Amino acid sequence: MKPPFKLLGFDHVTFAVGNAKQAAVYYQKVFGFDLVGYRGLEQGDRQTASYVLRQNHVHFVLNTPYTPTSPLNDLLKKHGDGAVDIAFAVDDAAKAWEHTTKHGAKNWFEPRTLEDDHGKVVVSGIHTYGDVTHTFVQRDGYKGTFLPGYAPAKSRGETKPTGLLFIDHIVGNQPDSEMEDVVRFYENIFGFHRLWTVDDKDISTEYTALRSVVVADDNENVKMPINEPAHGLKKSQIQEYVEFNSGAGVQHIAMSTNDIIGTIQQLKANGAEFLTVPDSYYDELPGRVGDIEEEIPALQKLGILVDRDDSGYLLQLFTKPVQDRPTLFFELIQRKNARSFGKGNFKALFESIEREQARRGTL
Ligand code: FE2
Repeated sequence: MKPPFKLLGFDHVTFAVGNAKQAAVYYQKVFGFDLVGYRGLEQGDRQTASYVLRQNHVHFVLNTPYTPTSPLNDLLKKHGDGAVDIAFAVDDAAKAWEHTTKHGAKNWFEPRTLEDDHGKVVVSGIHTYGDVTHTFVQRDGYKGTFLPGYAPAKSRGETKPTGLLFIDHIVGNQPDSEMEDVVRFYENIFGFHRLWTVDDKDISTEYTALRSVVVADDNENVKMPINEPAHGLKKSQIQEYVEFNSGAGVQHIAMSTNDIIGTIQQLKANGAEFLTVPDSYYDELPGRVGDIEEEIPALQKLGILVDRDDSGYLLQLFTKPVQDRPTLFFELIQRKNARSFGKGNFKALFESIEREQARRGTL
């Protein structure tokens, strides 16, 4: 059933972190985001310090609690640093809230209007898997910094953009046998369809496996793979995530670039850490993906992965976890018409993750 509101795309992602002031520097210096907004004690917020980072259409908000009574502490204690809210831009935040709460979503907060000299924004919120929430943001041409209540802010020192353009997809990990319920939840509240599916036979290595269903809107602006662990000889990376995150949560956020070689070169120079595949991956690559525009030695030097589907091909690479718990990480992706998610790379990637798991003692 089509919902009576329009989901326009990802608006922003909010992270709970232990020290937003320092984390904001990491996203600026390593990933090349600009600091554009801030809210905290100076704006009268006695609960939460909040930093808004932007690169092209990617907006991240980093939140840290000031006081032991802030509910953010519960999230941090249970999950560690990580993504806690996926906000969607919508044409009508009140209708979005009414429709989704009527079709199975739990209320987080009812529609309310935020207002300042630069205009009005209507927001509302629902709960989704784990402790993750969705905020609906109806901007109505708001002209101020991010949202009413935020002060403009500027990066100190130089930040260099790394070519990140927009969020391509956001992946949610679920405990064993909970994936199907979450997929149905998104079908019910948003009218999403199943864009792509993998089962444990597709992507098991000798040791570990997962199942995944990608749900998406009709325009495929919003794509959300939902994973669960499958049984293998050893522990699935999804199970490792679920244990360290104490339940379901956001596993990775994929950001799109038009020049993955330039993006990865710069991220590496800035100190980002990536998963690696063996050189044999590149020996098999031409046979697997056929002709591509990029030179294979240039991809091999940076460890960039390639996969092909019926529509085209894609280039992708995954960071290592960006906090000490082996939970959230990022993907950089350049689509050359491909609409899928790199199934052909799963085996090589799983083996790479298994090597990391073995080093962590969690395989
Ligand atoms: Fe991905």
